[in-house]
Amino acid sequence: MKDNIAVVGLQWGDEGKGKVVDLLASDMDIIARCQGGANAGHTVIVGDKKYVLHLIPSGIIHQEKICYIGNGVVLDPFGLLEELRILDKESIDYKGRLFVSASANLVLPYHKLLDQIYEERRGGAPLGTTLRGIGPAYRDKVARCGIRLSDIFDDKILLEKLNDIKTLRAQIFEPYQDDERCDYDAVFDKVCSIREAFAPMLTNVSSEMHRLDAEGKKILFEGAQGALLDVDHGTYPYATSSNTTVGGILTGLGIGPRMVGTVVGVVKAYCTRVGAGPFPTELTEETGELLREKGGEYGATTGRPRRTGWLDLVALQHACRINGVDQLAITKLDVLDSFETIRVCLSYRIDSELVDTFPVDPYALEKVEPVYRDFPGWKSDTSSITRFGHLPQEAQNYIRFIADETGTEIKLVSTGAARAETILV
Ligand code: IMP
Repeated sequence: MKDNIAVVGLQWGDEGKGKVVDLLASDMDIIARCQGGANAGHTVIVGDKKYVLHLIPSGIIHQEKICYIGNGVVLDPFGLLEELRILDKESIDYKGRLFVSASANLVLPYHKLLDQIYEERRGGAPLGTTLRGIGPAYRDKVARCGIRLSDIFDDKILLEKLNDIKTLRAQIFEPYQDDERCDYDAVFDKVCSIREAFAPMLTNVSSEMHRLDAEGKKILFEGAQGALLDVDHGTYPYATSSNTTVGGILTGLGIGPRMVGTVVGVVKAYCTRVGAGPFPTELTEETGELLREKGGEYGATTGRPRRTGWLDLVALQHACRINGVDQLAITKLDVLDSFETIRVCLSYRIDSELVDTFPVDPYALEKVEPVYRDFPGWKSDTSSITRFGHLPQEAQNYIRFIADETGTEIKLVSTGAARAETILV
């Protein structure tokens, strides 16, 4: 098998992929992002510095790594330039180390306005999107009226495409005449102004991946969001608009399955979700609040408080299956340090019947009743522990149980945000 590694989220995002990618990246040469956009918020803590990246692969923090953003990403070019300014401020040199697929579709200002309009028009049941224009940009991509990065270098193509979109969207934007996000002349000028910045980063990511792989370079594929937000296999319509599972890596970078290598799934020791949608093990009372406070569960992109709940093994087994997960990275174990009892959902009760497969119908998921197994808590501080065998027995049992039930190996356990707060198994 290849030495390449794919890192994917196994819940509703925010599993701590940023830290896992940062740790694993030290042994890799290349880091490539394949899907999603600036809806992601990958937090990496190095020493006393905290970096929150949305589009740029977390690997950029390692000064010698080369990073790629694939065609499957919807790229907010202005957001990307803002992130580059943060790197400039931190003296992280990215020149010659960051490349973007020429065929990545762009998120433009009017996509953000559309995201807002669609959410408002859902009446009482908005999806709770990040309002970063992700859904509308993927919608344009699939409808074949998106603007790709390569298009911005040609006035004629750019104008033609913007004119088509103007015609298509005339009705919906009618009440927003004064909003500069749908002022196409302003969008044209704004896009033209970034050509110079993007020209050196433009590349054919698919052929680069094949070249680098053939040269024996080790590639880390960095997933964004999590399996339960996958547009096909997640809790649709309460999902994001991309394939957040391994399939998204293949199409989002233009590679074949054998290039992927080992699939590392990242899972929190409990569950969180932001935005609307079913969440069977959600805790809405005191215990949920405790998890939120101890885990600092506030969105890295929007600052919204995250919903919290116990680990859901039905959902996790589904996520492992659809990704072909080989190894697990279990994060935020320390958040459970003070709990007397830790619960894990083993199956769902649906109309007095026990079910251990994840329902394909999210409306059915809303009605399931989780069936729990209780584990005794370890009630001690795990944050400075760096060896699996030094963890309290109860914590080891909890982790072994997760590995056994999912048929995976444990790659690492994270017990804090810092790089050092990690147990490599
Ligand atoms: P969108 O991706 O902005 O369209 O949002 C759709 C759903 O996915 C919402 O519930 C968001 O909160 C959620 N979501 C999108 N990206 C992330 C992420 O990186 N972490 C957690 N939730 C996310």
